[in-house]
Amino acid sequence: MLLALHYWSKMEYKSRMIITIDGPAGSGKSTAAKKLAKALDIAHLDTGATYRAVTLAALRAGIDLEDESALTDLAGKIDIRLEYGQGGQVRVMLDGKDVSREIRTADVSDNSHYVACLTGVRDVLVAMQRRMGGELVGESGGFVAEGRDQGSVVFPDADVKFYLDASCEVRARRRCDEMPDADYEQVLRAIRTRDERDSTRAVAPLIKPDGAVVIDTTDMNIEEVTAELLRQVRSAQ
Ligand code: C5P
Repeated sequence: MLLALHYWSKMEYKSRMIITIDGPAGSGKSTAAKKLAKALDIAHLDTGATYRAVTLAALRAGIDLEDESALTDLAGKIDIRLEYGQGGQVRVMLDGKDVSREIRTADVSDNSHYVACLTGVRDVLVAMQRRMGGELVGESGGFVAEGRDQGSVVFPDADVKFYLDASCEVRARRRCDEMPDADYEQVLRAIRTRDERDSTRAVAPLIKPDGAVVIDTTDMNIEEVTAELLRQVRSAQ
């Protein structure tokens, strides 16, 4: 019975499914993207991980984070891979080494905006993300790409596009729940700074992509968000 249901859901959705989820930090998009990908039995493409991997490589190499030419060069030379395991687990590999934990440190989080605003780096990473997407379509029939520019720049022809949002206060509270030692006011300030940076940067600013379904998750829990995304995907079929 379970097996039958599994195949039924595959048949129902999977001729080729590209879904994008964009939104600010703390909007719930990462968890929702993972859960949606799992429910649809397709891959989760975490594009923030690619910016984080370049940032980590730059910090390790001691490259000036405002040196566009050196960073673009670096982005083109390093080998970034997302390795998919059982149950949708993803390992982020940088030059053959697992950096899944290291790319989530505060040092990398605080510095990733430098590489994210450089046209040269973005060009390399956008091409890389499209290549990864193409491979994922071949391997698992589709993917849920999550980031800031997925529906607007990287996969503008996606089958379904989402933009998730939530109030700054709720996003700060969610971050604090993940990091019990964090100071709420400090996290709130950091979120506001990050929003400002993400939406005003000259290259690929965070915008609501054309045709995106906008979901305000302020008063929703993650199960409700996932259910709503699934409902929207079904009605788009
Ligand atoms: O989503 P996450 O926090 O992992 O993103 C890490 C960094 O990469 C952030 O600075 C974010 O603005 C940037 N980013 C981006 N475009 C994406 C994904 C992430 O500029 N598609």
